[in-house]
Amino acid sequence: MSTYKIKVNGKEHQVDVDPDTPLLWVLRDNLNLVGTKYGCGIAQCGACTIHLDGKAARSCSVPISAVADNSITTIEGLSEKGNHPVQNAWREHDVPQCGYCQAGQIMSASALLKNNSSPSDSDIDGAMRGNICRCGTYVKIKAAIKTAAKNT
Ligand code: FES
Ligand code: FES
Repeated sequence: MSTYKIKVNGKEHQVDVDPDTPLLWVLRDNLNLVGTKYGCGIAQCGACTIHLDGKAARSCSVPISAVADNSITTIEGLSEKGNHPVQNAWREHDVPQCGYCQAGQIMSASALLKNNSSPSDSDIDGAMRGNICRCGTYVKIKAAIKTAAKNT
């Protein structure tokens, strides 16, 4: 066990965990931030996507020892009232079905728009390619990203 100080959603936390513990499990088990989901554990599905210093990252594949001073944002910290333009657009387009993949989808979409406020279809495809949805909400996701881009 080692002690790590991490900054999540603007708040400092101290956790005692093994160095190779994936950030996903620190968020869920130590900090009770369960909006970030476990899908595959091998960086192949995107369910666990968070922002590390504003960039989309797969928290299942980032060991806590690699986080250092990076600022972490989870779905719980994306906006104060669930009113980030991406979240608003998701509601407008009624995107989720079962919902399991959607936190990861929203975190990837919001990271895309942070760095590219007017993404092309291929920019969207490229940024969202690693986020799998077993319910097939891809068409609505793309439409919602375009709406969010107009409101960002
Ligand atoms: S759980 Fe992390 S990418 Fe699937
Ligand atoms: S909404 Fe069900 S997996 Fe995406």
